[in-house]
Amino acid sequence: MRVNFPWARAGGCASRRADAPWGAVAKCFHWLVAALIFVQFALGWLAASWRLSPTKLDLFIWHKSTGMLILTLVVLRLLWRLVTPTPALPADTPAWERAAARASHVLLYLLMITMPLSGWVLNAAAGVPFRIFRLIPLPAIVAPDKQTADLAAAVHFSLFVALAALLVLHIGAALRHHFVKHDDVLRRMLPARGASR
Ligand code: HEM
Ligand code: HEM
Repeated sequence: MRVNFPWARAGGCASRRADAPWGAVAKCFHWLVAALIFVQFALGWLAASWRLSPTKLDLFIWHKSTGMLILTLVVLRLLWRLVTPTPALPADTPAWERAAARASHVLLYLLMITMPLSGWVLNAAAGVPFRIFRLIPLPAIVAPDKQTADLAAAVHFSLFVALAALLVLHIGAALRHHFVKHDDVLRRMLPARGASR
């Protein structure tokens, strides 16, 4: 198996080809996590704004469980990314665009990890015992404390705003590749395009 270490890629590793599609597993991770993130925005918003009732509690169970599922999938996705080749951007991509793409992808990964972590801290600090999908007990990572809970809630909300804004740019960039630059960058991430792994 070819090992695709980040430091090996900086100089243009031979495994990066501009015309190569993303592997099937990488595509699955991308679209599954993307769909879950959009569902998660809706669940978080509904859970936070619903009037106090059994439905509100159900919405929170789904929101927190989906959040922990996203965290798990993102960790697996990053591990997969380390050991499989990723396609390079087209050769004529200007340096600023390469830097912007790289920075925004790193930020997206960071936000996909810090969002669920801040939710987890918020849940523990609020002293709420919780079972993921009503099955797996979620360990408390901090002691119950009102100030920590308030801070974690503010951080959770700020990260949500940052993630939503970055996604507008991310989706805009993907559409620009397709409709303005007429290159393969969006197409090669779509499920229909053939892939080997
Ligand atoms: C309609 C929604 C979306 C579209 C059209 C889209 C499109 C794309 C495309 C075309 C790429 C490949 C870029 C390349 O080949 O260099 C990509 C990569 C990526 N996308 Fe999305 N995306 C969407 C939603 C999301 C969401 C919701 C997230 C996560 C919050 C996300 C996170 C990422 C990340 C982290 C990468 C970099 C993959 C890597 O280098 O490992 N995307 N996206
Ligand atoms: C990628 C993962 C996650 C995303 C995108 C996300 C997104 C959101 C959104 C949009 C809201 C509503 C806005 C707000 O009041 O902050 C929210 C609220 C909330 N989330 Fe998450 N969340 C994620 C993971 C989690 C996890 C794993 C937990 C707990 C284990 C959690 C616990 C909460 C709580 C308790 C609230 C209510 C906050 C309040 O009422 O101030 N979230 N989340």
